[in-house]
Amino acid sequence: MLKLIRLEEIPSTNAALKAMPHAEHGTVLLAKRQTAGRGRLGRSFASPDGGLYLSLLLCRKESPEQLLHLTPMVAVAVRRAIFDACGLWTDIKWINDLQVQGKKVCGILTELDGMGRIIVGIGINCHTTEFPAELKDIAASLHEFVPVDEDALLQALLLRLEELDDALIPQKAVWMAEYAAACITVGREVELVRGDSRRPAFAEAVDENGALLVRFPDGTRDAIFMGEAQIKVRIAKGIPFNFEGESI
Ligand code: BTN
Repeated sequence: MLKLIRLEEIPSTNAALKAMPHAEHGTVLLAKRQTAGRGRLGRSFASPDGGLYLSLLLCRKESPEQLLHLTPMVAVAVRRAIFDACGLWTDIKWINDLQVQGKKVCGILTELDGMGRIIVGIGINCHTTEFPAELKDIAASLHEFVPVDEDALLQALLLRLEELDDALIPQKAVWMAEYAAACITVGREVELVRGDSRRPAFAEAVDENGALLVRFPDGTRDAIFMGEAQIKVRIAKGIPFNFEGESI
């Protein structure tokens, strides 16, 4: 059973939950807005009124290495919840963005607190209208595509997160198959961005833990893990090279 704590405004639900050492497994912090929402790779996450911003605390017995698939499974849980409440299937852009028509409607940030606790942060743009200028072309809000009842979406999300906690080990294969099927990065040309360097590759598949399996123009292959510092995967525009092997 999840325990929901509702807040009006807070800097970051992830940071707040981390600072609650006695919070129990299943505690959920929900805020109407965040003033310092955190995103992946040290970025911020715009969190004005109109979104659902929540963090779930998981205190699991498994090691982080046994839970590499957690973040992809959270994406599946949120995607299912959006379908349950809004009747809309979202796409997953590796590793954990949910998109509609190529625009991000949800971000997920999973953090460890150094004491073996996991904080799963989820931000869903429901009725958001004030995106910062730099996000206007890449972010969207669910209400642009379907009517959204935020309370219904919250209830669906809590149910799906509870389901996720039970399914994390026994249902891993089924959930990860759903992840792979919904991941629009697979089968696309991508750019691996690390600092100023950009490396083209072809995304062939995701493995059972959610690593992105890529092939480079010289035919070599690699597995990209979510935790790899500062690697961003962008879906490439245009055709940078010939994936039969030769650079063009
Ligand atoms: C990303 O897309 O980079 C991840 C965004 C995660 C945002 C959520 S909103 C609730 C929770 N609290 C935070 O500060 N961040 C996460």
